Amino acid sequence: MEKALRQSTLETLGLGTVLGIFKRGGLPVETSDMVDRVFGPEADRGCMVISGANGIVGAGKTMQFASRLEPFGITIAALDFPGAPAGITKQYAGLASGFGKEQAAKIMNNVVQFTYDGKSLPRQLAAMKPRFLLEAVPEIVAIKKAHYETFRTAFPGIEIRSVTSGFPSKELGVGIAHPAFPHESNKVWEIVEQTPSAVTQLLWSMGMIPAMVSDDWSFVLDVIFCGAMQAACRYSEASNMPGWKVDKYLRQLLGPNPFRAHDAIGTKGASFLTWSCLEHLEQQYGPLFKPAAGLVDRKDSGLSWYPMNHLRPMVNWALDEAGEAELQAWILGPLFQMTSLMLHEKRAQLTQLNRIGELCAQFKNGVIAMARKLGTGKVLALVAAYHKLQPESASSPWYPEEFQQMDRPDWQQLYVNAEHDGKVGVITFSGESYSQEVDAELNRAMDWLQAEGIARVILSGDFHFSTQLAGVDMADFFPALERPEQGTALAMEWSLTARRLHDEFAITVGFVHGKRCLGAFFELFQHCHYLVAVDSADLGMPEVSLPVVPVMEGCHWFFRKAAPEAWPKVLAMLLEGRPVKAGKAVGWLADYAGPLDAAIKACWAIATGESPVPMRPVDASPLAGVPAEVPGLPAANAKVEAGRRAILDAVREACAAPLSEALTIQAGHAGRFLGHPSCKGGSIGAAFAKTAV
Ligand SMILES: NC(=O)c1ccc[n+]([C@@H]2O[C@H](COP(=O)([O-])OP(=O)(O)OC[C@H]3O[C@@H](n4cnc5c(N)ncnc54)[C@H](O)[C@@H]3O)[C@@H](O)[C@H]2O)c1
Repeated sequence: MEKALRQSTLETLGLGTVLGIFKRGGLPVETSDMVDRVFGPEADRGCMVISGANGIVGAGKTMQFASRLEPFGITIAALDFPGAPAGITKQYAGLASGFGKEQAAKIMNNVVQFTYDGKSLPRQLAAMKPRFLLEAVPEIVAIKKAHYETFRTAFPGIEIRSVTSGFPSKELGVGIAHPAFPHESNKVWEIVEQTPSAVTQLLWSMGMIPAMVSDDWSFVLDVIFCGAMQAACRYSEASNMPGWKVDKYLRQLLGPNPFRAHDAIGTKGASFLTWSCLEHLEQQYGPLFKPAAGLVDRKDSGLSWYPMNHLRPMVNWALDEAGEAELQAWILGPLFQMTSLMLHEKRAQLTQLNRIGELCAQFKNGVIAMARKLGTGKVLALVAAYHKLQPESASSPWYPEEFQQMDRPDWQQLYVNAEHDGKVGVITFSGESYSQEVDAELNRAMDWLQAEGIARVILSGDFHFSTQLAGVDMADFFPALERPEQGTALAMEWSLTARRLHDEFAITVGFVHGKRCLGAFFELFQHCHYLVAVDSADLGMPEVSLPVVPVMEGCHWFFRKAAPEAWPKVLAMLLEGRPVKAGKAVGWLADYAGPLDAAIKACWAIATGESPVPMRPVDASPLAGVPAEVPGLPAANAKVEAGRRAILDAVREACAAPLSEALTIQAGHAGRFLGHPSCKGGSIGAAFAKTAV
């Protein structure tokens, strides 16, 4: 029988567990099958219609669907009014730079643009047999409903989804597929359906990220996105702090800069949408959501939130401690009250609720992770402080008891999950970067599997939210820029976590199914006894380009797992920072690489003890003959050169030591370099500077 630490997000899509993928030896559904189900069999294919196709959402989604459906010969009928601004044309440059001119033109061959008067559909549409309508017309309920009526009359049985920001499915009478900005590239969709449909599974199979949410006003994303904007407006009005400066504080506190985001999307349209979501939420839930006065102004005037650069004063000032506490109450108080409402209504599974804020609203940590970090007491105190500042909001729903549940596994395992079938376990990652939070969750997942008696474990992305494993969360390094000893402590801690994969389980297999596995995640995966990857995945250590010294034993572990003949390639990977395709890494960085299905099968065979490939053992003795240079390495800028020297020092010392001592030696190098001027002057220092107010 299968058991899980918490429900996998994949299961919410009706696609089974991650363990199921490995046991089955393949994905639960294939795009070609889902295309057949949504658009009909090849001999009787219909088309997809996108209405409002020249709008902000419509144009972006036309690009996204056209590029993904082109291989299946599905035509996109792009429908809008005559004279609508040419949104699709504007998107073309991006398509051409992403796919190359030739392929972009081929994709556009499958897009047919129609105009009409909003009432009678173009005659020619019928010949294209519309099967699926993605409606992206303005956020006005009467317009949307009339539009569905027109389509249902002409094409009974057509599948319809609305991209609405806020109206529930029960108001519109169609399913919801709410996408996130920027629409041509963001893959996340909030889905409202009774049960996950073929359309939703098609999105998943095409590499998008559908997330099931409940049928409540504004779902999850726009409660968070509009809620942050609302909080920012109210604080700005109460404190008289201009929006651009509030943005600076919010970037530090939360991650997003809501005023800038509204201007970037388009001040008038975005302010209207935020106002519209808040106004409907206010009708449902009261004054917590009452649109701030400034927002009402902007949706009418369309004046941008940011003044021109020269109108921002040069003389800067910062809030004192009491001022910062008040700012936190104004911003976090309402956000946590809104979060309690979403939790109470079970708007989404917690990992999804959390990740939606991170992937679509620029939150550094989603609202759930933020609350967990602060702890129940602090969250409740922030809401209480907010109610003192804004007493009306206290009359809106507020469920403090939701924050008393933080011990539950779904609260505890936001980014890392574990499943097992009694013999083999799988640990899955739902995020893309390694952080303190991920490290703690990974340790808990390993503890759980051990307590369950599982000794064979696969490490993998979650086949849903994690499309790549990209390295570290740079914010975790910020404290070490001033106190390198903290960097050393962090490197020690993470390396000890990684070593558990090697020391405490009978067989561990790292499985890379996404686009890339880099940096700390790659070091972590190297600690598994085996590494299996899809052959197109990029594997590598970009640390030197930041520059930073690898924190999880990369300076000696890779050498210990590779034959001496491969050592020059390992050193080149570390000093150049360029990734290697998994297909070219077999034998020195990976044990098996192949197409996805074959890789899944190989991974399962290894995990179940029927390995088709030999293991690369870790050489625990001091290594002799590790190269000290990479011949022909092109010169780089001074910071990168300093990084190279530091990495070389770490390689030399950690490789010359036995395995038992190498961890401490490498962690020392990694920590010390975080305090080096070249590191502070590089990408990490720059990212840190951006958070300063
Ligand atoms: N802007 C965003 O970032 C965003 C994000 C998520 C969801 N949404 C939702 O997307 C929908 C569209 O918003 P938008 O920002 O793209 O608006 P938009 O004004 O940019 O685009 C709307 C388009 O619809 C066209 N249109 C109007 N009536 C039509 C009709 N009857 N038939 C066909 N076309 C018609 C307009 O000419 C325009 O090109 C709204 O429901 C909104 O809530 C917007």
